[in-house]
Amino acid sequence: MKKPDIEIEENICQCYQVSESTIRSCIAAKNLKTVEEVTQACEAGGGCHSCHILIDLFIDEYHKKSTPMETLVHEHADKVKKRGILGRFFKKFKPDVPVTK
Ligand code: FES
Repeated sequence: MKKPDIEIEENICQCYQVSESTIRSCIAAKNLKTVEEVTQACEAGGGCHSCHILIDLFIDEYHKKSTPMETLVHEHADKVKKRGILGRFFKKFKPDVPVTK
């Protein structure tokens, strides 16, 4: 028997359980340019801020911009309240910020 071709999508925003496709769809449908606009549109990013750097990357991709990774890390590392899975990432680029869970 063939397995169904169902791809389970990971939630990018764990606080509000918002998937990557939902975030990307909102950015495209409403031509969103800031994380705050994305949060208003679909709630992603409205909690601990851990996903803001990924939302910013999706915004950049949609608008065909490429903000340097170090710029994104410096913009977002200080406001992340719960580093979770991105803890090691932030520690690598900005080791002076304490890693919390
Ligand atoms: S993971 Fe998106 S706000 Fe917490």
